[in-house]
Amino acid sequence: MDIEDIQIYVETPDSPRLDPTKQMPSWILLITFMGTRKLSSNHVQYFKQLLGSESAVIDGVSKDASADLEAFNCDWLRKYRGHTKLVLRPKSTEEVSKIVKYCNDNMLAVVPQGGNTGLVGGSIPVFDEIIVSTARMNSIRSFDEMSGILVADAGCILEVVDQYLAGRSHIFPLDLGAKGSCHLGGNVSTNAGGLRLLRYGSLHGNVLGVEVVVPDGTIVDELSTLRKNNTGYDLKQLFIGAEGTIGIITGVSILCPQRPQAVNVAYLGLESFGKAQLAFREAKRHLSEILSAFELMDGISQELVERVAKKKPPLEGKHPFYCLIETSGSNKEHDDEKLEKYLEFVLSNDIISDGVLAQDETQVQSLWSWREGIPECLNHWGGVYKYDVSIPLPELYQLVDDTRERLSSAGLIGDDESLPVVGVVGYGHMGDSNLHLNVPTRRFDRDVEKELEPFVYEWIQKRNGSISAEHGLGIAKKPFIGYSRSRKMLDMMKDIKKLYDPNGIMNPYKYI
Ligand code: FAD
Ligand code: MLT
Ligand code: ZN
Repeated sequence: MDIEDIQIYVETPDSPRLDPTKQMPSWILLITFMGTRKLSSNHVQYFKQLLGSESAVIDGVSKDASADLEAFNCDWLRKYRGHTKLVLRPKSTEEVSKIVKYCNDNMLAVVPQGGNTGLVGGSIPVFDEIIVSTARMNSIRSFDEMSGILVADAGCILEVVDQYLAGRSHIFPLDLGAKGSCHLGGNVSTNAGGLRLLRYGSLHGNVLGVEVVVPDGTIVDELSTLRKNNTGYDLKQLFIGAEGTIGIITGVSILCPQRPQAVNVAYLGLESFGKAQLAFREAKRHLSEILSAFELMDGISQELVERVAKKKPPLEGKHPFYCLIETSGSNKEHDDEKLEKYLEFVLSNDIISDGVLAQDETQVQSLWSWREGIPECLNHWGGVYKYDVSIPLPELYQLVDDTRERLSSAGLIGDDESLPVVGVVGYGHMGDSNLHLNVPTRRFDRDVEKELEPFVYEWIQKRNGSISAEHGLGIAKKPFIGYSRSRKMLDMMKDIKKLYDPNGIMNPYKYI
């Protein structure tokens, strides 16, 4: 895309919304002007006094700090680039509260940032907003082994928390490929779904309470450790999936299940998506309560992992589709017997063409790497167009076929280095009807984007699907929200935003 192709539409908080289905080509950058102010060295001085320690403030206002700011200004996909000149790394909720109050009083815009692994540009400033990073707020506050309820700071890294829980025979109810970097606050703010939602459900159910600093600096302490609490509106739900637009989450209380004692993983090769659906149906029938993941990977996704990671595939032959099945239970013998019966059934009924069962923990990890490693391998070339969508299961893969057909007809795909598209790839959380349609490219390319958007969104809207199943909207999906949400819902979201953030300082210019 050339810079002159970008049209900037400046919206004020009260101006009518554009109808994205009619008026919004994807290359319009929609900016809501909130009247926030420019950062000065006096402001920086205030933050330095407040936070004290050198490492708590990365100051690019009074000196050149571009090298230190780089990791905060660029997203995981290398698609969005911000221009922050100031990163604040508070250590406590009280410090976050003082920062936010000062920003609100002085009309300074703020972007909350956790591990910066989000895939829709939500954690990156659009201009020079101040980044408030949760990286130094990383203590586990309490864990009750009897109830399994954990209370932790928002900046705890998911994998670190899960290891802590493993030592206490529990497991975090969310697992995802970015676990080594993402923070609990980021997970809750994106309502991340991940690899085991099928078993443990969504964070909307597992999060029992949150501690949040709202835009006027007030600390809202809703860190409940109760499983049941029907006393009026359940307002914590507003912050789960809000993507940092109405407050900064500083603490989380979450229900963690018992860690399963027996885990099995099978990796299957299949001839068609129809057969993958049969395999899923039979998995639910044979494995019911022990089924903890059912993931889909198409042939090209696995070929690209093989090519980039340079490792030997789990199965001898090539197959158009692969599924990864995980079971988690409390009795190894019982689970082994169930899984063996399932595998016998799907093999003898010609539902799967081949399969392998992990024999030990190393093989479990190795089979998972063929699924979890896909996003990183697709990011190997110049860029990836990512669509994270919910579609009714029978049509889930049709979107990949139709997109591939469209890009092929446009002459954009191929091995030839001059062509922009490397391939059209489908994988995802089949057990949740959540497809990841990915188009890895050698460079971000306007012609490719024109073929993809609004085509993909229209396709999803026709099937009453969702344009964002689990990654959120951030800045990437902002123009397209109308494909999945009615005007009434958008107006209600805007009302909430205006109520809690009247000055528009909290993660401005994003989806709301
Ligand atoms: P960030 O990227 O830092 O922020 C994400 C959003 O939350 C931003 O809008 C930010 O402003 C806001 N935010 C962050 N912290 C706070 C806070 N404390 N308070 C308020 N707002 C805050 N997602 C899935 O759902 N399922 C997956 O399986 C999955 N797998 C992934 C695999 C890889 C390899 C990668 C790179 C990403 C994956 N993701 C997945 C994306 C996912 O959203 C993030 O990994 C994770 O949930 C974001 O956490 P984070 O700490 O990195 O948040
Ligand atoms: C995944 O399931 O691997 C993640 O959501 C990341 C992605 O979609 O690439
Ligand atoms: Zn996912």
